[in-house]
Amino acid sequence: MERQSEPAIRIVVDLQRKVLEIIAVRLGEEAPLLPILHDVQAAFGCVDEAAQTTIADALNLSRAEVHGVVSFYHDFTSSADLRPALHLCRAEACQARGVERMVAAAEAAAGQRVELKTTYCLGLCSVGPAARVGDGLHARLDETGLVKLVQSL
Ligand code: FES
Repeated sequence: MERQSEPAIRIVVDLQRKVLEIIAVRLGEEAPLLPILHDVQAAFGCVDEAAQTTIADALNLSRAEVHGVVSFYHDFTSSADLRPALHLCRAEACQARGVERMVAAAEAAAGQRVELKTTYCLGLCSVGPAARVGDGLHARLDETGLVKLVQSL
């Protein structure tokens, strides 16, 4: 077994402490698992195995139950992807407004540099095609606008 250096151990302890702080804030809520997962995902960019174990222990769930939720929802990832991400809506209303014809151009613009993720409805159905970057919403996208948005990341 590989020994971890003292700074590496300190980082792991600090990360676990932060996860425990997040859990403590949400623990009194009804059905706290999803809010905790959202908070951990937002804080670390992922819900890794160590965090899943900590959350499972705190909520008296099995790690398999927590992992099942993490792997089911697109909003959660088990490992961090440090690339900028664009969430492109490909649900029915945006499909009707032509989003599928724009995907190839967006993928070409994204390459390996930008993570192009699919999402299903951003609540902008009447002004689609729509996309989200961070907390920013983008509506009425055409192919040129989408490519420019991807290139701006
Ligand atoms: S279907 Fe795309 S925003 Fe609702």
